[in-house]
Amino acid sequence: MAEPKKTATLSFGNTSIELPILTPTAGPDVIDIRKLYGEGEVFTYDPGFTSTAACDSAITYIDGDLGELLYRGYPIEQLADKSHHLEVCFLLLYGELPNAAQMEDFERRVTRHTMVHEQIHNFFRGFRRDSHPMATMVGVVGALSAFYHDSLDISDPWHREVAAIRMIAKLPTIAAMAYKYSIGQPFVYPRNSLDYASNFLHMCFAVPCEDYVVQPALAKAMDRIMMLHADHEQNASTSTVRLAGSSGANPFACIAAGIACLWGPAHGGANQACLEMLREIGTVDRIPEYIKRAKDKNDPFRLMGFGHRVYKNFDPRAKVMKESADEVLDLLGVHNNETLKVAKELERIALQDDYFVEKKLYPNVDFYSGIILEAMGFPTSMFTPIFAVSRTIGWISQWKEMIGDPTQKIGRPRQLYIGQPRRDYVGVDHR
Ligand code: SDX
Repeated sequence: MAEPKKTATLSFGNTSIELPILTPTAGPDVIDIRKLYGEGEVFTYDPGFTSTAACDSAITYIDGDLGELLYRGYPIEQLADKSHHLEVCFLLLYGELPNAAQMEDFERRVTRHTMVHEQIHNFFRGFRRDSHPMATMVGVVGALSAFYHDSLDISDPWHREVAAIRMIAKLPTIAAMAYKYSIGQPFVYPRNSLDYASNFLHMCFAVPCEDYVVQPALAKAMDRIMMLHADHEQNASTSTVRLAGSSGANPFACIAAGIACLWGPAHGGANQACLEMLREIGTVDRIPEYIKRAKDKNDPFRLMGFGHRVYKNFDPRAKVMKESADEVLDLLGVHNNETLKVAKELERIALQDDYFVEKKLYPNVDFYSGIILEAMGFPTSMFTPIFAVSRTIGWISQWKEMIGDPTQKIGRPRQLYIGQPRRDYVGVDHR
């Protein structure tokens, strides 16, 4: 017998409305309020979307209490251990792990789109050398729609497919160009003989004067960082991409909007802010001073890389990242790294402190990533661009899922108006 339809009854004044309850594959039930305003002439109010599901999606699932993250059902720990970023891109985009032939074809298609139009080089010349690479990336990625007119018709599945491949392929190239431009070195072209992560490291660190051989262990660490950052359900930047896409904006413009949102220190900018914080703390003996500040309501200081809207347990990505930090620093012969020492001691102290325990504040994905990236030779300004490169597949997969949904509508939230009631204009002589 079919399950009886579950409903919620909302009663206020003389009104009582039956609202359907939707049951997900995993996670909390969802009360469908779509007819609420039509029948009850009331809005719901949830400014930070703390209790609001903005869409349905089959791509990524997070259980904040368990500290669980699944990409198309596969646990992040297993993917980080057994998969690689381009295979995760295929999984997120198409929903299943590829067989060997599919993987080879996907890698070939991505590889052949890694170059950017030669005129795009000119865009960089308009920026100051000391521009933050995220500023350059927002500008250049948004400008891609001026070049690739054959993948802008979002109603055409083939255009959507080509735009997705182009974005996956070109973001590493653009991020590497932003880095090279910021240090006054010439751009390095992608090399089709290199894997995705090695190609990115080569474009960042090679110079024309000599051969540059990417260390396989560093490429593996870079690839793992990319996998860990690939998608994270409806986070702020993904929601930005979805909202921009809901108006029919072209995919390049939507990804540029996502990059802009990711830049904020409360979101993807936290990896840069976290390393700068660890550097400012400097030594283990100064940690109590900063813990005190983080707990002080009158001090805006927060522990960067700590806390999360969804995770009220360890961020599973932070656990993998912490192990990777030890491996990379060991590989690079970086022992007694003071920053890592401060990070580990800060984590240990915070996780014993009632404030952090009660508020369920744990290290998140941004807490250890900067230590690895700095050890690899990246400046802090490149941390968030690398997050953007990694998250491109998540953004484009979520965008594609939304645009492919025949019931999709433009996102248009309402508000709780607290401004002036209607009033008449008063001439300047009477004010
Ligand atoms: C990412 O959403 C995602 O999935 C994002 C992300 C992804 O992959 O896309 O996971 C990537 O953005 C990770 C988060 C990176 N940001 C930071 O590390 C910045 C520092 N953390 C915070 O600013 C904060 O924790 C947020 C923004 C991450 C989450 O903020 P919420 O959910 O809005 O929680 P909140 O600000 O309401 O905090 C709840 C309480 C508050 O105290 P009370 O007002 O209840 O007394 O916890 C406190 C906060 O003051 N708190 C912190 C804190 N984070 C929250 N106190 C000190 N240090 C912190 N880091």
